[in-house]
Amino acid sequence: MDIAHDPITADDIPSPAQPPLIKREDYTPYAWRVPETALDFALGLDQTQVTATLKLERNPAGEASDEIRLNGDGLTADRVAVDGANITDWRMDGPDLVIPLSGKAHTVEIATTINPRTNTALMGLYASNGMLCTQCEAEGFRRITFFPDRPDVLSTYRVRMSGPKDQFPILLCNGNNTESGEGEDGTHWAEWHDPWPKPSYLFALVAGDLVANSASFTTASGREVECNIWVRAEDLQRTGHALESLHRSMKWDEEVFGREYDLDLYNVVAVSDFNMGAMENKGLNVFNTKYVLADPDTATDADFDAIEGVIGHEYFHNWSGNRITCRDWFQLSLKEGFTVLRDQLFSQDMRGEAVKRIEDVRILRAAQFPEDAGPLAHPIRPDSYREISNFYTATVYNKGAEVIRMMRSMTGAERFRAGTDLYFDRHDGEAATCEDFVQAIEAGADLDLEQFRLWYQQAGTPKVSVSQQVDGDILRLTLTQTVPATPGQPDKQPMPIPLRVAVHSRTTDSLGAEQLIVLDQATQVFELPLAGPDPVVSINRGYTAPVIVERSLDNADLVFLAAHDDDPFARYEAMQELAVGHLVAAASAELDGAALAEGQSALVDAMRSVVTDVALDDSMRGELMLLPSETYLFEAMASGDRKADPGAINTAREALRTAIGQALATELNALHVRAQKVDFDDPDGRGARKIKTQALAYIAMSDRAKAAAMAAHQFDHADNMTDRQGALMVLCGLDCPERGERLTAFYDRYKTNDLVVDKWFTLQALSSHPDVIAQAKQLAEHPDFTISNPNRVRSLYMAFAGNPSAFHAESGEGYRMIADVILALDPINPQTAARFVSALGRWRRIEPKRAALMKAELERISNAKNLSRDTFEQVSRSLEG
Ligand code: BES
Ligand code: ZN
Repeated sequence: MDIAHDPITADDIPSPAQPPLIKREDYTPYAWRVPETALDFALGLDQTQVTATLKLERNPAGEASDEIRLNGDGLTADRVAVDGANITDWRMDGPDLVIPLSGKAHTVEIATTINPRTNTALMGLYASNGMLCTQCEAEGFRRITFFPDRPDVLSTYRVRMSGPKDQFPILLCNGNNTESGEGEDGTHWAEWHDPWPKPSYLFALVAGDLVANSASFTTASGREVECNIWVRAEDLQRTGHALESLHRSMKWDEEVFGREYDLDLYNVVAVSDFNMGAMENKGLNVFNTKYVLADPDTATDADFDAIEGVIGHEYFHNWSGNRITCRDWFQLSLKEGFTVLRDQLFSQDMRGEAVKRIEDVRILRAAQFPEDAGPLAHPIRPDSYREISNFYTATVYNKGAEVIRMMRSMTGAERFRAGTDLYFDRHDGEAATCEDFVQAIEAGADLDLEQFRLWYQQAGTPKVSVSQQVDGDILRLTLTQTVPATPGQPDKQPMPIPLRVAVHSRTTDSLGAEQLIVLDQATQVFELPLAGPDPVVSINRGYTAPVIVERSLDNADLVFLAAHDDDPFARYEAMQELAVGHLVAAASAELDGAALAEGQSALVDAMRSVVTDVALDDSMRGELMLLPSETYLFEAMASGDRKADPGAINTAREALRTAIGQALATELNALHVRAQKVDFDDPDGRGARKIKTQALAYIAMSDRAKAAAMAAHQFDHADNMTDRQGALMVLCGLDCPERGERLTAFYDRYKTNDLVVDKWFTLQALSSHPDVIAQAKQLAEHPDFTISNPNRVRSLYMAFAGNPSAFHAESGEGYRMIADVILALDPINPQTAARFVSALGRWRRIEPKRAALMKAELERISNAKNLSRDTFEQVSRSLEG
């Protein structure tokens, strides 16, 4: 072989500093099957003894070998037995246990001892608030016992757990509780059996002093399911919403996807120390308290919505994830992208389609677009990874959901349902691939997805440029798509892009009929009927495709769409387009005084119709009133060879907000007064709460003293957290006496409620106050700050990293703070530490002075000794060319 054409790259040589690269193309089935697993836990906070008994059979599809390799992470075996006899000829290979095995079927027994209390990574079995709980996805089970810890090895689990009854009165595991009893010396035990074969990442165990809010659910076929939300006693009164959301999810999945629950028990446990939002362990979901606990006094409307969405998401995984799981972690979007789509559709049905769709697109643009445009870009089905935890990304989740949503847009809901029915039917009980899903949709929904598969392969957000020409009574729409180069993918092919379009007429005010077109070539011309003179094209209505549409419409056309389009998403989009165009031009100093004034006045006009349109409901009004975020504006500004200038973007955006606040002072004041009069329980209460704080925020741009007084009044008289937090948010951005007073009042009132104290940290870290950096540093010294609790770390530092004027301070202090927290957190909780890296990773798209400072911080991190695999991978990818 010609060595020049087959070079060995650095990727092929693992070294301590370079964890190995795992490749999708290298998948091979495991050599063994594990039909049954028995686990025995002798539980203790400082010492838990685990005995695992694995029934093993040769996998006919696997490679022949005379040993078995079981994954471990930080474990040592106290004892290993094969077919009932202790053996000594096992060996360790790195973290893994290798046992010689020559027959066709064996029973292997392994004893390990672990320390949950010192497990600060919160992966595997760990202690939280005196209780024990587990997190096994993606590779946490190997921190509990030696096991083939990969999603394509499915086993049925029988678990016995025992421990001191006073410390752990409640013992929970997957499946059904088959037996319980009392032991000696104040211990008790429970046995659990999960009849459904599952991969190890879905294993869960909880032991602690918990109480439940319970209610039974009757399934479509008439079975009773006992649903429990387990929490600490003092939190019980805040579990009603989670329980109701669970019942709504169960009913919805029966009605919309034909999926029924398959056990007699559904347990949800809330824990305060959790790396993620929640986890779909079979029959025993473990949740971050943030996504369980809510009442109007302590949780905002947005918190209520998030709980409903996450409860739904984890429930929907029971079919999309658990009954059908992933063959390997490259297929993660198979369960996550699909389940995010399912939870989005659920929330749309519960709360209204338009507003939910706008929220989801906003998240996509804020979190996924920057990822797709940066050094960490990857396809929704990645080709390689070093640490899988780093691939639970907005791309796999949110773009993954958009990709499946496009299939649904092309077929309609009914045919799509036939496709998902076939998928669930065909692959029930299997570990499947994205390709399996695509094939099932092709066959069940009767849709050709040959070219569409590119959406699984190609990273980068496609750009669609639009031009139009009138020819008699038709409009020729020329669309051109380009998919930008991303790391490892210099050249891209055109993908099918489904776009709902309509052609309106501005002068006659008539709205054209909508149709779906699919752009599947590099350039294509579509002929559309005209609705009248002065055609205005409304494109990507409902946001049917996750692309960036590039076009230059007159401000007048955009103002028309913002005020008149019959698609609510298109109205929102026109407002955004208007604002993005103006703000990017203003920040790039492309506008002279006259153009600047003209742009501002167009936006003021559009905003006036939004604020005063009586036909608009307030929830939608609230969406339309929001200007594009600074982060999204960075993306828009950093295209071509232009770099984003955070300072200039901030100045331009603040100037526009001030202009709106000044020009619409009367209207905004009236809006606030009207909203203040709506009662909490009124059907319009939510919408009213949303716009009242937005009105306040605009008023604060033009009349600070007045806004401070209004906000203080809103705060003092609030009967709910939405109004209280909104008022405090406005006050936090102002330099006024009311600020400190109300921050103190808020803290004093809620200091025993961790989730509300998190809000208190976040409000200050997010504020546009000139001293925000000094304040954030002080907060890190606050007695309530702790680096070992992920919620608390995120409440301060994620908020800070998401506050552009703080994070992008010209001095580089913001970058240094984030790098410092990554370095401090990495040895404690690498998974959470690594999640901060992407903020610094955007350096290439930022103007050179700040870019150099960001890069220097990344280099400082990369020079640290003993970096985790998680942080190492993110930092090295962020620095690579
Ligand atoms: N399976 C994940 C939880 C998970 C994420 C485990 C990463 C291990 C690593 C769960 O279903 C999930 O996706 N949770 C999301 C919330 C959801 C509503 C998108 C989360 O935790 O953020
Ligand atoms: Zn999920």
